[in-house]
Amino acid sequence: MKTEVVSVDPERPAAEILARAGEVLRRGGLVAFPTETVYGLGANALDGEAVQRIFTAKGRPATNPLIVHVATIEQATTVAESWPEKAQVVAARFWPGPLSLVLKKRSEVPDIVTAGGETVALRSPAHAVAQGLIRAAGVPVAAPSANLSTRISPTRAEHVLRWLDGRIDMLLDGGPTSGGLESSVIDLTVSPPRLLRPGLVSPHEIEAAIGPIAVGPKTPAANSRPGQSAVARSPGLAARHYAPTTPLECRSDSWPYVSQLCQAGLHVGWLVLKLPPFETSAGLIAVELSDDPAEYAANLYAALHRLEALALDRIVVELPPDHEAWLAVRDRLQRAATADQKIG
Ligand code: TXA
Ligand code: MG
Repeated sequence: MKTEVVSVDPERPAAEILARAGEVLRRGGLVAFPTETVYGLGANALDGEAVQRIFTAKGRPATNPLIVHVATIEQATTVAESWPEKAQVVAARFWPGPLSLVLKKRSEVPDIVTAGGETVALRSPAHAVAQGLIRAAGVPVAAPSANLSTRISPTRAEHVLRWLDGRIDMLLDGGPTSGGLESSVIDLTVSPPRLLRPGLVSPHEIEAAIGPIAVGPKTPAANSRPGQSAVARSPGLAARHYAPTTPLECRSDSWPYVSQLCQAGLHVGWLVLKLPPFETSAGLIAVELSDDPAEYAANLYAALHRLEALALDRIVVELPPDHEAWLAVRDRLQRAATADQKIG
């Protein structure tokens, strides 16, 4: 299949382009598009065969459910079986935006979307292209991040093409995404609500709106419910989910270690908040992100894609501080770390 790449104005996308992309979705095709977090790979959420194509294109295990994207709260209520007060409060406060709500699903939502589970994750994205596409399609849009399963999420069109060129119908290129990390996912079917994936909306902001929440996945055993597998209840939590192909390690106080690796002759990529004031070793590719969490998040995946493309021996990341502002960044870094390498 040939992937059609169409440039689109990220703020004022042309109606005619959105209409064409909406038509591709309505006909059962796959369209990758920018959101304010990362690029998504969309299909009509009410068409099980179209959704199956997402799983095939990504090589995604069928046990990992998808987020359904909607334009409005009103459209969300056509996907969710019920719309509790807490959903109304957080949606009114954070939508459109980077927060996904897990709610009971309606029977019209094909099982493949929810990995056979009774619940569905819903989000209304803030990006004008994403909003315009959902409206043009006239249907809710199931969309995971537009990368191969287990690879780094895409924050630019070129990242999408790197893995998915020839596997999807269309890519709307709206330039780099602003947020850079996937949405926060909160389960509203349990009491207290549980944050399953940290993201750009912080636990404190959510608590300010709806009161106390639990943070982090439950253990698989505690998670199981009749009729719903543990896998489906705490998906996306596989230890190695956002991984570059180069071995990656996270370290606090990473410089002595990096310098040791360089002396041993390894080609190393080093991701830091701030570059040290001294000369670093030859053979080292040092990348300064930012000591501002939002700026760091916006640029992290692009930096990892860039380092990965250099086929280095190792990527070492200076782990940002253990503060709430860095919660989502630390979560993604720890999952990107090579499984058998301890985070220090
Ligand atoms: O920012 C985002 O959320 C991006 C953009 C494209 O919107 N999408 C995204 O989708 O990150 P994906 O598929 O890469 O991640 C969806 C996460 C996974 O961790 C998945 O397991 C979880 O949401 N999820 C989806 N449905 C769920 C459900 N019913 N219950 C619990 N977790 C669910
Ligand atoms: Mg993903």
